[in-house]
Amino acid sequence: MKTAHAIPELRHSVRLWREQSLSVAFVPTMGNLHAGHIHLVEEAKQLADRVVVSIFVNPSQFGPGEDFAAYPRTPEADSAQLVAVGTDLLFLPPVAEIYPADPARMTYVDVPGLSDDLCGQFRPGHFRGVATVVLKLLNQVRPDVALFGAKDYQQLTVIRRMVADLDVPVRIQGVPTVREENGLALSSRNGYLSAEEKARAASIYAQLCAAAAELRGGARDYARIERERAEALRHQGFVPDYFAIRRQDDLARPGPGETRWVVLTAARLGKARLIDNLQVEL
Ligand code: PAJ
Repeated sequence: MKTAHAIPELRHSVRLWREQSLSVAFVPTMGNLHAGHIHLVEEAKQLADRVVVSIFVNPSQFGPGEDFAAYPRTPEADSAQLVAVGTDLLFLPPVAEIYPADPARMTYVDVPGLSDDLCGQFRPGHFRGVATVVLKLLNQVRPDVALFGAKDYQQLTVIRRMVADLDVPVRIQGVPTVREENGLALSSRNGYLSAEEKARAASIYAQLCAAAAELRGGARDYARIERERAEALRHQGFVPDYFAIRRQDDLARPGPGETRWVVLTAARLGKARLIDNLQVEL
């Protein structure tokens, strides 16, 4: 595996592959890699001849008081995992390679509506930072396909919308969430949990499953289901930001005739803010 810290090195490697007519898949990450990230790389290998992974803890998607400084950075361990799974190129840029000296003068990408809803209500500016860095990374790598986890369902939806609206020539591939045996979705932020909290955190998945079962059973009083499941999380010691039933395609509020839902939640437990979701179809 080659590691590039600068954009010209990255561009050079990709150009050599392009000259050989090799296709390229791209997996953007913030590092501290776990089996969920590695699964994305395995899927990427199925979809293209060469795989680029980026590790960049993107400052513009963290709000003031969020965990940018504390976010776990484990480049050596990440690198070893990426070698083991057969990654071709790791792009590991410093912040100065991605952002100009004065971020206030930057051009940013806003995906209106979608970005202000759900997690966007509790993390103002977060999806603007995500959309901006993902567009920049796509422009630097210029892959045929880029892969994103369904774990971050709203992020995936924002990126799909941005790519469609701005005619970005890339295919976006969503990948199902990888979970622990108890249902807890793998996340770098699970490292903020104590062993006891980690066991309790599985009840997020249990509440998503309970809501899904109600939908499959014919319940359509979305507001009641949302209220009851959020209350159940509160009983288990979580501070839920939201528990919401939405349409899969655009995250709009579903009507009574809907058949494709996604149930999403964000809840704080101890020092961690956990997000998860479940897609439900009739
Ligand atoms: P990060 O949280 O590191 O996640 C990188 C990718 O891994 C995302 O597409 C995310 O959805 C996926 N992922 C995380 N946990 C997963 C799991 N348990 N199962 C499947 N996929 C999982 O998401 C980001 O970084 C950033 O916002 C980024 C897109 C890199 C932009 O900075």
